[in-house]
Amino acid sequence: MPKPALSRRALNTPPSPIRKLAPLAARAKKAGIHVYKLNIGQPDIESPEEYFEGLRLFKDKVVAYEESQGNEKLCRVWSKYINRTLGIDTRPEQFIITVGASEALVFAFMSCCDPGDEIIIFDPTYANYLGFASISGTSLVPVLCRMEDNFALPERGRIEEKITGRTRAVLICSPNNPTGTVCSKEELGLLFDLCEERNLFLIVDETYREFVYEDFEPFSILNLEGKSDRVIVIDSLSKRFSLCGARVGCLLTSNEEVLASALKIAQARLAAPTISQFASAHMLENIRDGFLEGVRNEFRIRRDALYAALKEIPGVVAHKPQGAFYTVVQLPVPDADDFASYMLEEFSYNGKTTFIAPAAGFYMQNSQGLQQARFAYVLNKNDIDEAIEAIAAGLESYSKR
Ligand SMILES: Cc1ncc(COP(=O)(O)O)c(C=O)c1O
Repeated sequence: MPKPALSRRALNTPPSPIRKLAPLAARAKKAGIHVYKLNIGQPDIESPEEYFEGLRLFKDKVVAYEESQGNEKLCRVWSKYINRTLGIDTRPEQFIITVGASEALVFAFMSCCDPGDEIIIFDPTYANYLGFASISGTSLVPVLCRMEDNFALPERGRIEEKITGRTRAVLICSPNNPTGTVCSKEELGLLFDLCEERNLFLIVDETYREFVYEDFEPFSILNLEGKSDRVIVIDSLSKRFSLCGARVGCLLTSNEEVLASALKIAQARLAAPTISQFASAHMLENIRDGFLEGVRNEFRIRRDALYAALKEIPGVVAHKPQGAFYTVVQLPVPDADDFASYMLEEFSYNGKTTFIAPAAGFYMQNSQGLQQARFAYVLNKNDIDEAIEAIAAGLESYSKR
């Protein structure tokens, strides 16, 4: 009896480029080698005590479904938090609480696009956008941002030429994963104007909003065009509050039709987790002054250490990332994927090695980024120094094979 066939959608969904080499890392670990994990965006910063306090305060005898839109208090305090930090005036009704930014992105794609419609994205890109596109039947159309330009947005004409009759939205992530680039107000303004002229949605993924290391001033597309019906903001507690496993994010827009349609999808999945939303509301309401500043300072120290160490390795081309906690680096090897595997399979330095993510998987265009890798600076400075020492020694040994 032949097996029932899988869908083309399932078969075409790409595997995560950051987890692809995980079995090699597991083998190295089993062989007693310490593996510095710079491949994945899992911060090691302690989650805020205020979140755990919130968990302890949950006293209901039944863990019931939450409202599909989200916990009423969480919508209220998140709106207040954003209004306070950005100096704007969102309302709780503009929020839909989701299972991380991931679900908010799926809701946005599903609300804005029919199967076959297109969303313009910028290459290299957060690789899971491809998964969300696959789930929603949407096509992503990449516009290349070049390493030589520090991955800044290309000129307007190069974005505009990608717009077709099927384009429904432009999606930008700032501060950016994987490049660490932060869009200027002018760049966001340019994208908004383009969307306005061509009648498109502008989806802004602000998962890393407060992780900006130069001249920090809290800034969002909401500061520019918060009342516009075409702006959809994606937010998350995962990274800035070191709460990846809490699975709490949101979709935020002034567009009532988008909210109504996203709510229908939210109703079909019933609700995001009740206890985590309860604890998140307590955390956002009570978070101590200076928490985010402390975390930002820590990542600035790590960013500086990583950049300083990479710059010293012969043949490596690194740019100083302005935000998030990633950077994409050019390595003096023909194939970064092969080098990353070599580091895990064949090399160790004082019993240690480093796990990096080959960058080709972050490009939608084939044969881009073959010599590049993404480094996530989610380890403390000391570990970063040692991880980059291992990379430098690994590059030298790799070149002599
Ligand atoms: C740019 C970007 N958007 C969205 C997400 C998803 O985050 P979460 O679903 O944990 O909120 C991530 C996670 O790494 C990310 O880097």
